Amino acid sequence: MNEVARAAQLLRAGELVAFPTETVYGLGADAANPAAVARIFAAKGRPADHPLIVHLPGASHLERWAVDIPEAAYRLAAAFWPGPLTLILKRHPSVSDAITGGQDTVGLRVPNHPLALELLREFDGGVAAPSANRFGRISPTTAAHVREDLGDAVALVLDGGPCAVGIESTILDLTGAAPRILRPGMLDAAAIGRVLGVVPGFGGTADAPRVSGSLEAHYAPRTPLHLAAATDIAWVATRALDAGRRVALLAPQAPGMAHENLIWRPADTDPERFAHDLYARLRELDALSCDLILVVAPPEDEAWRAVADRLRRAAAGSK
Ligand code: TXA
Ligand code: MG
Repeated sequence: MNEVARAAQLLRAGELVAFPTETVYGLGADAANPAAVARIFAAKGRPADHPLIVHLPGASHLERWAVDIPEAAYRLAAAFWPGPLTLILKRHPSVSDAITGGQDTVGLRVPNHPLALELLREFDGGVAAPSANRFGRISPTTAAHVREDLGDAVALVLDGGPCAVGIESTILDLTGAAPRILRPGMLDAAAIGRVLGVVPGFGGTADAPRVSGSLEAHYAPRTPLHLAAATDIAWVATRALDAGRRVALLAPQAPGMAHENLIWRPADTDPERFAHDLYARLRELDALSCDLILVVAPPEDEAWRAVADRLRRAAAGSK
């Protein structure tokens, strides 16, 4: 039996399987089996009221998981699935509270990775999968990251190489009066707007569904991470070094000074490549055991929105 067939068999048996997607690695369980879904929360150490995204083999499965599906959902699915877009829709009555966190909505997406699609087709059902990291830690973009983080808690890790996108999917809520992006991703508002004819806004309204990615403490390295404007980097670094601290610097340019306690890693100036490397870089910088990870804040630009969002959370979560 090949690995994908074995993975599908494990899912049917209620086991956890980690698998690659184009965004990050997911920790998958049979979404129709609440006991299996409960194992995800146990393995991650994640609070049980946080809803999970259900991964589908194709848009033809939408009606099994959602009701009152707006036409916009079908248009977006046709344009962007498989791809890094999660749609929040009204849940089908059969969807368990373990998936939705007790809300009346469900998050659905078709991931764009050949192994993920093969697995989903072979399984022929919905696979609930959060990012395959321990709660609050950096999301995994390689199979090795998953094993580091979750080890024996997962029956099988499908290795599909490094994830192409590198940060989590864009989450779009289609259950409100107007579409809203609850979590920015590399599929941006303008691209969604071109399909919908209206550019979505950002953030939830008071009664909008919860997104754990919207918690402050998330995606965090263990080393305190500090964001600073390019123009401030030199003095922020100097101040830390003068205080005897070891500094890991992620910046597009080499620092103008040399210091034995200053380690520089180049940051990409292209947002796609920056996103692609972000989580692996953060893990690398964390492993240097410095006192501070200093990151040059990305430009205030739509193309950098999702990256800036993850960096802000990493800074908030590492304190
Ligand atoms: O790219 C991704 O989306 C990755 C890959 C594995 O697909 N998955 C991912 O899952 O990032 P996770 O659990 O780490 O983040 C999913 C986010 C959470 O913040 C969760 O709160 C939100 O999706 N979510 C899920 N269902 C929701 C719902 N019904 N309403 C609002 N937010 C929801
Ligand atoms: Mg996550």
